[in-house]
Amino acid sequence: MDKTALNKISYGMYIVCTKNNDKFCGCVANSAMQITAEPATIAVSINHNNYTNEKIKECGEFSICVLPENINPLTIGTFGFRSSRDFDKFENTKYFIKDGLPVCEDACAYILCKVINTSETNTHTIFIGKIKDCEILKNDPPMTYAYYHNIIKGKSPKNAPTYIS
Ligand SMILES: Cc1cc2nc3c(=O)[nH]c(=O)nc-3n(C[C@H](O)[C@H](O)[C@H](O)COP(=O)(O)O)c2cc1C
Repeated sequence: MDKTALNKISYGMYIVCTKNNDKFCGCVANSAMQITAEPATIAVSINHNNYTNEKIKECGEFSICVLPENINPLTIGTFGFRSSRDFDKFENTKYFIKDGLPVCEDACAYILCKVINTSETNTHTIFIGKIKDCEILKNDPPMTYAYYHNIIKGKSPKNAPTYIS
């Protein structure tokens, strides 16, 4: 099996956020896709070891921030390689609150979801969210996963479902 064939699948780049009582948390995820149009639903796959996973389960809601190509790479470093378990990722991040959920100001769009279904795999929970609201913030091009790897020369950690060892 040539697992590099999986690199031919296209993805975007997102920060999936939720809340933990009065605190906010979130992580980078490339694994978001729209599942149905009516009602509009979207799925994300979040590793069991990610703090974001347990907090989405508790809160029942999440926001998806669509990252533009010109996002500060430090934002990806903060949200993709550190854990909210021991660090407040929002302390140095510009954000606003929409319907109780955090949205990164530098996102080109955001989508707010209520969890309506989950599916467990060995390593990841697939959260299916019903879209409650969504909005474009700026018309900058959204970053693709390929752009992140080929242009930014970024890496993916083991918790990413698309990690190739
Ligand atoms: C490019 C990239 C893509 C990622 N995609 C996912 C993903 O789809 N699902 C996931 O669970 N983690 C993914 N991650 C890893 C999480 O962002 C990372 O484990 C994060 O530190 C978890 O933070 P938390 O413990 O605060 O939730 C990705 C990271 C990067 C850099």
